[in-house]
Amino acid sequence: MAKPTAHFACQSCGAVYTKWTGKCEACGEWNSIAEEAAREEIPKGLSGGKGRRIEFVGLEGSSAPLPRLSTGIAELDRVCGGGLVAGSCLLVGGDPGIGKSTLLLQVAAQLAGQAKVAYISGEEAVDQVRMRAVRLGQAKAPVRLASATSLRDILASLDGPEAPDVVVIDSIQTVYADNIESAPGTVGQVRACAAELIRLAKKRGFILFLVGHVTKEGLIAGPRVLEHMVDTVLYFEGDRGHQFRILRAVKNRFGATDEIGVFEMTDRGLSEVANPSALFLAERRGNVTGSCVFAGMEGTRPMLVEIQALVAPSTLSSPRRAVVGWDSNRLSMVLAVLDARCGLALSGNDVYLNVAGGLRITEPAADLAVAAALVSSASDVPVPADMVVFGEIGLSGEVRAVAQTDSRLKEAAKLGFAQALVPAQARKDGARKDKAPPAAGPLAIRAVGHLQDVLGLFRREK
Ligand code: TYD
Ligand code: MG
Repeated sequence: MAKPTAHFACQSCGAVYTKWTGKCEACGEWNSIAEEAAREEIPKGLSGGKGRRIEFVGLEGSSAPLPRLSTGIAELDRVCGGGLVAGSCLLVGGDPGIGKSTLLLQVAAQLAGQAKVAYISGEEAVDQVRMRAVRLGQAKAPVRLASATSLRDILASLDGPEAPDVVVIDSIQTVYADNIESAPGTVGQVRACAAELIRLAKKRGFILFLVGHVTKEGLIAGPRVLEHMVDTVLYFEGDRGHQFRILRAVKNRFGATDEIGVFEMTDRGLSEVANPSALFLAERRGNVTGSCVFAGMEGTRPMLVEIQALVAPSTLSSPRRAVVGWDSNRLSMVLAVLDARCGLALSGNDVYLNVAGGLRITEPAADLAVAAALVSSASDVPVPADMVVFGEIGLSGEVRAVAQTDSRLKEAAKLGFAQALVPAQARKDGARKDKAPPAAGPLAIRAVGHLQDVLGLFRREK
C-alpha cells in the first residue's frame, strides 16, 4: 500500500511538502501551503456504486440564449461578448491608478438606471467615492454605496430577497474573512473571499465585478486560481502618461477573448473611443523617417497604429535595445533577419522601438511594419506618409501572409491612406484561393515577397 507521503500542498501550483512552510519553493508564492488529507484518509472504494446515474444529453438541444444586460458602455459590452450575463463574475485587473475604480463607478452609475446596483469599496471612504461621482457627473445615480471590507458583513448584506442585480467589489484584495488567520490580500484570503462571493453571486443571480490588483509581473495578485474561478477576466491597461486605456478580455466564458475596448481618460472620467485608429494617428507627423503605420487587428476590429523606430550609432559595447508596446524578442528576430538575410547590420547601433499612443501590439503581422520603420530610420528615407504596412516575417526573410487582409485595407482606405505594403502571397486558408493580393478599392497595393524587397524600396526612392 502506498505510504501517505505528503500532507501539505501548495494551493497555487500543487507542489507537495511534508511540512508546512511559509513560501512555496516551486512557484515562489507566499502563504499558499495548506494541509491536505493524507492519501490513506481519502475514502476508499469510491468505484463501488452508490452514486446517482447522470443523464447524458446530446450536444444539440434547445437552450435559450443567455439574456444579456447592456451596460450602456458599448466598448465594455463588446469586450464582455455583448453585455453582462446574470450570475457571472468578472475580474477586472490593472495597474494602480489606471482607472479601474473610475470605470466601475461609471458602469455602476450607468446600470443604476435599469438595475439595482451596489458598489462596495474597501479602498476608499464613502466621501472619496462620492467626490469621484461628482467629478464624473454621476452624483445623482441611484447606486447603493458602502465602504466595507469584512466578508461576513458583505455576504450578510447581499444575501437576501432584495439582493442587488449588480455588485462591484473594489478591490478583492481588501476583503477579509475573519475565520482565516492570514492578512487581507494574501493568497488564502483572496481565494476564500472570492469563492464565497462567487458562490453567492451564482445563488442570487447577481453580476459580480471584482477589482483585482496587479503584481509586478503583471498578473492579478493572488493565486492564479482566482482567474480560474471567475467567468471573465478583463485587464485594464495603458500607459499612465497617455490618455488611452485599453480594456482587454483575457478569459471569457461568454464570448471571444480577442476583443478590446478603447477608452480615453479625460478630466470627467473615461470616455469611449469609437474610432481608435483616428485617435492613435492623430499626433502623427507625415514624412518622418523611422515612422510607419501598421494596419493591425484587435479581435474583429481593425486598428491603425504608428510604429516608430530610431536607429542611432552606439558608443556602448553592447548597444541598447529598448522596446515599448511590442515584444523585444520579436524585435531581436527582425533585426537578426535584416542582418543575416538582407545584409543590413544594425548590431553597432542602439535601436529604439515605440508603438505610439501606449498601445501594446501582440500580432506577428506587425513584423513588416517594424522592419520598414527600422530600415527607414537606418537609411534616412521616410516611409510614405500615406502608406500602411502589414505582414509577418519568417526566419529566412520571407514575408508571410496574415489574416483579415481585407478588413485592414478597408480601414486604411477609410482613413485616407493611398497605398499599402502587403505580403505578396495571399493567405492559403480554405475559403480564399486567390493567389494575387486583393485589389482593395482606392489603395495602391505594393506586394513584397521577401524582406530584401523592402530594403530595395527605400533605396530606390532615395
Ligand atoms: P482610479 O480609477 O482611481 O484607478 P485605479 O482604481 O485603477 O487605481 O483612477 C485614478 C486616476 O485616474 C487618477 O490618477 C486620476 C485619473 N482620473 C482622471 O484623469 N479623470 C477622472 O475623471 C477621474 C475620476 C480620474
Ligand atoms: Mg481603485
